[in-house]
Amino acid sequence: MSADHLYPVPPAVAQHAHIDAPRYQALYQASISHPEQFWAEQARRIDWMTAFSQVKQTSFDTEQFGIQWFTGGQLNVSANCLDRHLAERAEQTAIIWEADEPGSAIHISYRELHAQVCRFANVLKQQGVVQGDVVTLYMPMIPEVVIAMLACTRIGAIHSVVFGGFSPEALSSRIGDCGSRIVVTADEGCRAGRRIPLKANVDAAIELLGDRSVNQVIVVRHTGADVAWDARRDHDYDQLMSRAEAHCPPLAMDSEAPLFILYTSGSTGQPKGIVHTTAGYLLYAALTHETVFDYQPGETYWCTADVGWITGHSYMVYGPLANGCTSVMYEGVPNYPDITRMAQIIDSHKVNILYTAPTAIRAMMAQGDAAVQGADGSSLRILGSAGEPINPEAWNWFHQTVGQGRCPIVDTWWQTETGGIMVTPLPGATALKPGSATRPFFGVRPALVDNEGQLLEGEAEGNLILLDSWPGQARSIHGDHSRFIETYFSTFKGVYFTGDGARRDADGYYWITGRVDDVLNVSGHRMGTAEIESALVAHQQVAEAAVVGVAHDIKGQGIYAYVTLNADVQPSESLRIELIQWVRREIGPIATPDCIHWTSGLPKTRSGKIMRRILRKIAAAEYEGLGDLSTLADPAVVDHLINEHRRIS
Ligand code: WT7
Repeated sequence: MSADHLYPVPPAVAQHAHIDAPRYQALYQASISHPEQFWAEQARRIDWMTAFSQVKQTSFDTEQFGIQWFTGGQLNVSANCLDRHLAERAEQTAIIWEADEPGSAIHISYRELHAQVCRFANVLKQQGVVQGDVVTLYMPMIPEVVIAMLACTRIGAIHSVVFGGFSPEALSSRIGDCGSRIVVTADEGCRAGRRIPLKANVDAAIELLGDRSVNQVIVVRHTGADVAWDARRDHDYDQLMSRAEAHCPPLAMDSEAPLFILYTSGSTGQPKGIVHTTAGYLLYAALTHETVFDYQPGETYWCTADVGWITGHSYMVYGPLANGCTSVMYEGVPNYPDITRMAQIIDSHKVNILYTAPTAIRAMMAQGDAAVQGADGSSLRILGSAGEPINPEAWNWFHQTVGQGRCPIVDTWWQTETGGIMVTPLPGATALKPGSATRPFFGVRPALVDNEGQLLEGEAEGNLILLDSWPGQARSIHGDHSRFIETYFSTFKGVYFTGDGARRDADGYYWITGRVDDVLNVSGHRMGTAEIESALVAHQQVAEAAVVGVAHDIKGQGIYAYVTLNADVQPSESLRIELIQWVRREIGPIATPDCIHWTSGLPKTRSGKIMRRILRKIAAAEYEGLGDLSTLADPAVVDHLINEHRRIS
């Protein structure tokens, strides 16, 4: 593999970059040896309403656990993203919104965005939302979702954005968990020419919730579709906006006030409501956005992530807006109406910085150079990738074909829980190796440990941990702080466990090898195998299910489900289709199983624990080297599974 090929920093990039190699070295050292001083200095990029008195009070020790940054300080996130830009860049475009159908883009200036946010903040207040309330947003990729997020922050409400691709079931459990009584949605979303029935899904979710439920729904008329309407509960967004007052002062929020909840999947149980707080998160999002993408004033930046994920939060909304950046927001999918759509958007808005996902890159790459046919692409300066490991082939294609060999690629490793980018090249400072996320960002102290928790030095491969806190770190799991401590700080004592494996090479570069727990990454979407399994066994005819990831050319990982049916049920093609539909209905289309493997028995230990290691190997057709099988209750199961797998493939 030519993966170790080194791409030096292009001198032209280094010359004008915020951070070059010597400066990275110096600042990184400073951030590690004197974190308080370093972060106090960086905190000057925030407009504070009250100065903080202490920079960092953090301990990962489970006995005296605590994470607090910038205590005593007060600020307002919407004021930092909007008001403070009005003096200098009121007429500058904040958001270029590109619709699903090509040919219609809308430019929204900072002045307009500010005005809309103030109005919607007043709408929320009128509807009875007060500081600390949780507002669920179930929205398409339209400017109103950004307006609603910022409006929440303006009045101290906590938003919980639920990805518009989730099913009513998934939505209802997220609404129920955070107890929000108000939902903001749209009549429908549009993706690749198809309509997504968001309002109908909200109605169904509320139905499922019953009593504990939502009493207000605000509906943006996006497609104008005729939707069911309950006059006691449903409100028209435009009508409320037209009656709302234009002026809304930003509320002074404590540094550690919760800013938002975002649900993500873990290896066990239901999705966790990850809680991020105000000051540290905003500072970290803004600083990483500026330095990792080397964002320069006046540039146009496009992050293709959906707002329903952390990348959309930190790098489509908060980081860029805090930095006064012009961002593209795109409603649709990269290959609609055809594979050249991304290149067309880049050309028509003269995008300088493109931040996207390996799955989108691989989907384009699968069609050779067709994705850039007829495109100019000369506006591009920096490329970024996130969400899953990028294979060197896709990296090289991205670099050559989209970046025309000229644009550095920042392969950014991070997580919902980290709030912002953690391990990454900086365009003006870091020589690149295709497939490596390279080096830690300022203040980040990655390390590798073996399964016993022993620190590994030098060149090594092991579990990726983080030794100390950083401002953007999540503070809790909503409603279950002890689960937070248990999940992230108990596997290895006194450190944060990422759930990822990684290798460190002789140059100190990190190579993320993927999750070491039962979490899948399908097209950059994070999913727990346990969630998919519980959806499967909820079906009447399913007795047992085990789900593993299997390599997939475009999605990175595909979903491979072993299913045992009830004794009186025969497997059939129609049942296979029904089960796939069932999972899509329970969770959403992102959880669609790629393969259903009917089996009469799963490999279990004598205590009944399913041995996933074996299931992963068989799904990958690696029949040899299954490891120690002596603990299996019934070793014959393995031969059955292998024979069944041979028949499927
Ligand atoms: C998991 C987190 C990028 C933030 C949005 C996804 C995987 C993320 C990379 C990368 C290899 C990556 C990890 C991580 N991951 N970025 N550059 N290289 N793997 O956040 O949904 O919380 O998923 O995505 O496995 O743990 P998320």
